Amino acid sequence: MSIDTDRTVESTTANGSDLGASLSVKDLRIAYGEVEAVKGISFDIRPGEFLTLLGPSGCGKTTTLRCIAGLEPASGGSITIGDTVVAAPGKHVQPEKRGINMVFQSYAVWPHMTVARNVGYGLKGVSKQEADHRVEEVLELVGLAPYAQRYGTELSGGQQQRVALARAIVTRPKLLLFDEPLSNLDAGLREQMRFEILELQRAVGITAVYVTHDQTEAMSMSDRVVLLRDGLIEQADTPREMYRRPRSEFAATFVGRANALPATITGSRDRAEVHGIPNPVVAAEAAAGEGASVAAVFRAENVKAGAEAEGLENAWSATVTRFGYLGRTLDVQYAVGDHEVRGELAPDTPLTPGQAITIGVAATDVHFVPRAEA
Ligand SMILES: Nc1ncnc2c1ncn2[C@@H]1O[C@H](COP(=O)(O)OP(=O)(O)O)[C@@H](O)[C@H]1O
Ligand SMILES: [Mg+2]
Repeated sequence: MSIDTDRTVESTTANGSDLGASLSVKDLRIAYGEVEAVKGISFDIRPGEFLTLLGPSGCGKTTTLRCIAGLEPASGGSITIGDTVVAAPGKHVQPEKRGINMVFQSYAVWPHMTVARNVGYGLKGVSKQEADHRVEEVLELVGLAPYAQRYGTELSGGQQQRVALARAIVTRPKLLLFDEPLSNLDAGLREQMRFEILELQRAVGITAVYVTHDQTEAMSMSDRVVLLRDGLIEQADTPREMYRRPRSEFAATFVGRANALPATITGSRDRAEVHGIPNPVVAAEAAAGEGASVAAVFRAENVKAGAEAEGLENAWSATVTRFGYLGRTLDVQYAVGDHEVRGELAPDTPLTPGQAITIGVAATDVHFVPRAEA
């Protein structure tokens, strides 16, 4: 459902180019009774930035978003939107006073109302003329102008999602919150809507907090990604940094396809022993000290095979255990000692199950990160 904005705390211009507010979340805690769903998280968002909260189901994404919206009380910490503290110990600003709006997975488009009325419904306290003008403007923005007089029942899933978007921005919020808005759409439309949402967000200049469990969505849309795990931040970074330099085994394996071999730092800090593999694994950068338990992480696409693997700092005798044709690549699984290693090869690489092969990964593609607890 849409939440009306409080026009008294808004400062917008007619072209809406300075709509975005900053958002600051500090040591936020949210409890349901005895259970703490969010255990102290902090992040800042710049005006106009697109930030995604990413993580597996149950990690606290929706709870955090609802708390920013004012639909859930904070049990600790603070939330500041622009210059206004909206949540802090002893303080809870009502949702409709926060200058925000939300887009959900279910579009909640009223079937018995036209598109124009659906979009204009939340506009209160403005003249009919101004309301009509704004509705026209946003329908143009989301490409629904020709459908203004259609009824909710006469719209496709994608069009309903656009109505939901139009309804969320027509009130000119300073902050737009999205909770898995594309989960109900089929794959092709989902991809198209990603770009549409981004274009719209950029055009309006609004600040966005987007929640998803889909790493592709997070990577392709966001200025920055906050990866959550069990109510805590695992890593907050740009998509590129998150991919290139995961800070933990969880981050490495949740985003993209990665290997994580359990290892122990030995002798030199850029080397680690992996049980059952004769040579130590070499990384380009030093890690924790001697004896530390780490995971040696490296991405599937960086695992070379055959001639390409010879001469790499890390080269192992492996056996092909299975492979699958994915069109653009071959998804390959190898056995190295008693470990499984995932790789990717060119789609036309000739392979047979059980084949002995040398595989390798460059030291620059290996990172040592703290080992995840079992
Ligand atoms: N209304 C509620 N009452 C009790 N526990 C809840 C409630 N809503 C969510 N939770 C719990 O809080 C945790 C985080 O939930 P949620 O924020 O919905 O996760 P996500 O959106 O990341 O899938 C989960 O363990 C969930 O079971
Ligand atoms: Mg959720």
